[in-house]
Amino acid sequence: MDRSFKPAPKNRMTKLKSLRFLTNRALSKIFNDQINLNILLSQQDPGLEKPIQKELVYGVLRQFYFLEERLKVYMNKSLKNRDNDIKLLILTGLYQIYFMKTPVYAVVNETVSVCSEMKKVWAKGLVNAVLRKAAHEKIPKSFLQSSLPAWLTVRLKKDFPESHQKIENTFLTKPNMSLRINTGKIDSQSYRKKLNESSIDFQSTPYEEAIILDNPQPSEELPGWSNGEVSIQDFGAVLLGRLFIDQVRQSNFQENWILDACAAPGGKHFHILEMMKKNGLGGSIDGIELNPNRLNTVLEIAGRLGHSVDIKQGDARRLDWWAGRKYTQILVDAPCTSSGTIARNPDVKILLNSKKIIEFQKQQLQILNTLWKTLAPGGRLFYCTCSLFNEENDLVVKKFLEVHPDSSLCNIDMPANTKNSVATSCGWYLLPFDNISDGFYCSAISKVASSQESL
Ligand SMILES: C[S@@+](CC[C@H](N)C(=O)[O-])C[C@H]1O[C@@H](n2cnc3c(N)ncnc32)[C@H](O)[C@@H]1O
Repeated sequence: MDRSFKPAPKNRMTKLKSLRFLTNRALSKIFNDQINLNILLSQQDPGLEKPIQKELVYGVLRQFYFLEERLKVYMNKSLKNRDNDIKLLILTGLYQIYFMKTPVYAVVNETVSVCSEMKKVWAKGLVNAVLRKAAHEKIPKSFLQSSLPAWLTVRLKKDFPESHQKIENTFLTKPNMSLRINTGKIDSQSYRKKLNESSIDFQSTPYEEAIILDNPQPSEELPGWSNGEVSIQDFGAVLLGRLFIDQVRQSNFQENWILDACAAPGGKHFHILEMMKKNGLGGSIDGIELNPNRLNTVLEIAGRLGHSVDIKQGDARRLDWWAGRKYTQILVDAPCTSSGTIARNPDVKILLNSKKIIEFQKQQLQILNTLWKTLAPGGRLFYCTCSLFNEENDLVVKKFLEVHPDSSLCNIDMPANTKNSVATSCGWYLLPFDNISDGFYCSAISKVASSQESL
């Protein structure tokens, strides 16, 4: 008989633990083990299963610096590193008291009882005392204004002197939910009618395929979700897809042979396919994606949307996946710090540091330098990130232009009604404020047509 230890099935083990305990463990994975939220979600972490758990995890992350400040006021001694889980437990309780208006007795009872599950019974008195103190204090509204690490506040102030306050405010609020209508399946008017019939309120945008919901909805409850009539995609990402299509039009090839170099989860890829079809633009689009799990996600989504795609696993810093035919346009939606999406991914501000920014810059330059060899003369490369850091944006483009004499910047026609756009020396920012979109950057580079290379 095999007597080797077999772990119990995940749901049997987790069923024995309280939701709050599991939530605390998810928070510990982020703060102590530096695992990001997207990874935990993709692993279906039991600490993020229920809506209330998500509310607590996202809430603590979003308000972390504020909550931490309050904790310092209520505790004269800081906890040891090994008791960081107790600190996170108290912050979760504070979040419920300040932001969820949960009755204090419920917060205190539930939070204190988790100490036993954590096998830290000694912390019960401390947790009880801090939460009760907090419950008796009125916090002035002005205290709730900022919850960013100090270095990030300083940077935003310096880089976006006009808009930094609006950006900071956005980073403290829940993001909106935007949809992209799959115009290959249903026309925009008919889909809007379906939303009206389902009593789902929305706002229109300048683009027929993009709408912003007044209140987020579970995706499966959206009309036409299962048969691929709609996708969830931030409005800024839709705008970037449109700008890319403009570049395709302007580069004037009769047959477009496009590469989407960092494809997953496929939002821009599918949008571009839909737009090319709608606008009668000839050609086809290849994709590569480094991460096999993310590649599977793209393929699953393609199935739901009814798109037939040609996306394979590949590393854009190498060319072993390339069959040798030159592309007329390349989209590099580069891996980046995601600092423009802190409202949606509040763990980013916790896990970010200057070393990571430079590591991303290195990867971004490697990707651009490698893919340049696959671009046809006269072709265009559209570079974008969801970062607000110059090191990942203009600076990358400048460094690239310096070493490629056959490259030159192209104009991007940003629509005049784009309220959150700001021009930079090499491209544009879409800034995350006023609930318009996440933060993005884009730049377009063309390959000089007189180059010796041929298609
Ligand atoms: C910003 S996301 C792309 C989003 C996607 N374009 C969309 O619109 O849904 C960046 C993607 O690049 C992938 N990636 C990172 N490094 C890569 C590399 N060296 N080669 C190819 N893909 C890479 C990441 O796994 C991630 O899926």
